[in-house]
Amino acid sequence: MSESKRLAGEQAIEFVEDGMVVGVGTGSTVAYFIDALARIRDRIAGVVSSSEQSTARLRGHGIEVLDLNAAGPLPLYVDGADECDPQRRLIKGGGAALTREKIIAQASERFVCIIDPAKQVDVLGRFPLPVEVIPMARSLVAREILAASGGQPVWREGVVTDNGNWVLDVHGLRIADPVALEGALNQIPGVVCVGLFARRPADVVIVGGQPPRVLR
Ligand code: A5P
Repeated sequence: MSESKRLAGEQAIEFVEDGMVVGVGTGSTVAYFIDALARIRDRIAGVVSSSEQSTARLRGHGIEVLDLNAAGPLPLYVDGADECDPQRRLIKGGGAALTREKIIAQASERFVCIIDPAKQVDVLGRFPLPVEVIPMARSLVAREILAASGGQPVWREGVVTDNGNWVLDVHGLRIADPVALEGALNQIPGVVCVGLFARRPADVVIVGGQPPRVLR
């Protein structure tokens, strides 16, 4: 599987142009992208990172990490996903970095998603949907999610996000209308971010393989 992730991560370099500030996601697939980006680091103007984990890897390669507020709108964001449907809508947040990932995706003109073939599904929901919550609202949000979706929220105990919050993973969903569910869950007080990327799907999906497949 990691060979597919490597092929997807390295293929995404094709979308990087000279002088760009590149948005960088989080996870094991993105790690391959970061390593490939290091080989052309003198050609880019820097990156905006979606997590402390990615920031450490980027800085380890001597790549300059910029603040999103200073960098402004980005031309390109490259990130992985936990599931991807045929409309390029995603479940993300398996690595608990969903909030910063969604912020950078929204700030970017083009979102290139890099996945291995196992992440492709017809209908989202087999992978438990991550939801970042304010800690004091955990139980309230879990009850509201159950009522709104029928899914079973499970607290990812022991995990604290880079923003100091907690994560619920919602099991047992079959998400027929991802745009509607994303909107509904966003309305619950205490929800910081829903790991559904349906309102802002990926623009391009690279499925790792020999050769990689590029879906637009
Ligand atoms: C991080 O919070 C996630 O959104 C990742 O992008 C997702 O979990 C994919 O991770 P891998 O590339 O490690 O499979």
